[in-house]
Amino acid sequence: MKIYVTRRIPDAGIKLLEGHEVDVYEGSTPIPRKLLAEKVADADALIPLLSDQIDAELMEAAPKLKVIANYAVGYDNVDIDAATKRGIVVTNTPDVLTDATAELAWALLFAAARRIGEAERFTRAGRFSGWGPMLLLGQGIRGKTLGVIGAGRIGTRFALGSRGFEMKVFYYDQERNETLEQELGAKKVDISYLMHEADFVSIHLPLTQETKHLIDAHQLFRMKPTAVLINTSRGPIVDEKALVAALRAGKLAVAGLDVYEREPDISAEFFEMENVVLAPHIGSATHQTRGAMAELCAYAVLKVFGGEMPSNIVNREVWSKRR
Ligand code: DGY
Repeated sequence: MKIYVTRRIPDAGIKLLEGHEVDVYEGSTPIPRKLLAEKVADADALIPLLSDQIDAELMEAAPKLKVIANYAVGYDNVDIDAATKRGIVVTNTPDVLTDATAELAWALLFAAARRIGEAERFTRAGRFSGWGPMLLLGQGIRGKTLGVIGAGRIGTRFALGSRGFEMKVFYYDQERNETLEQELGAKKVDISYLMHEADFVSIHLPLTQETKHLIDAHQLFRMKPTAVLINTSRGPIVDEKALVAALRAGKLAVAGLDVYEREPDISAEFFEMENVVLAPHIGSATHQTRGAMAELCAYAVLKVFGGEMPSNIVNREVWSKRR
């Protein structure tokens, strides 16, 4: 079988595919679309990145494709309906990146609250001339209110991390989350209330038509002027232009961002602003996690080749009409 991988991923995954013909794109930026269309022409499986748009047109160019094992938990880059229509199985990488992404959200929260990015730039610039009572004051965390938008796997793990800080926790989700309610006394609230009440807001939703720009100017303008906004999910959930305006107007204090509306482009204004911490989409970037993601993709491909349904399939309904 032929497997096309759109970027070098950890060997742990590639090794599992031994015995098959594996072709890996060796570039360090996203594979050009035209080349990808050529490469999938005779591929039985595709392992793409979240930055590759796998749409109906591309699938048309891949008549033998049986499985798309997306190297990410989010799969908004894959047209699921188009894949299902063509009998192509789509899988993602759940669970193995839950801790890493929740930990990065906390890292950004601490960095934003305590102005770590700004402090680092200040120190490196040689501007530290001695301890100062008013130097780089930030926001304390213990006892504050945490607002978690999206209480799935990552949102839940992130919220549970607040235990040591005795925080009051509100969450917004369509489903009730009994773990959070029982373990933290968390309360399910509507999004406007959460934005108004929380000192720290962290977003953990998938990108869908419903969640695009969920955090718009109206929601941002509800925030406390001391509040911190963290996004490690998908950029387009936040209206980036509105966020720039809200930060400039002091409608919230700081944002910590790992994801952007038009990746890899980032609103130029952010580079001029001290009250935003910027990371380059590294939520799942630990050695352990990226290795486990590679293995999960490889196992999914092998299962489909072997006629077994992978547990991480995202379009279950395709199974009866697969190629
Ligand atoms: C994912 O897997 O969806 C993450 O955004 C990758 O870091």
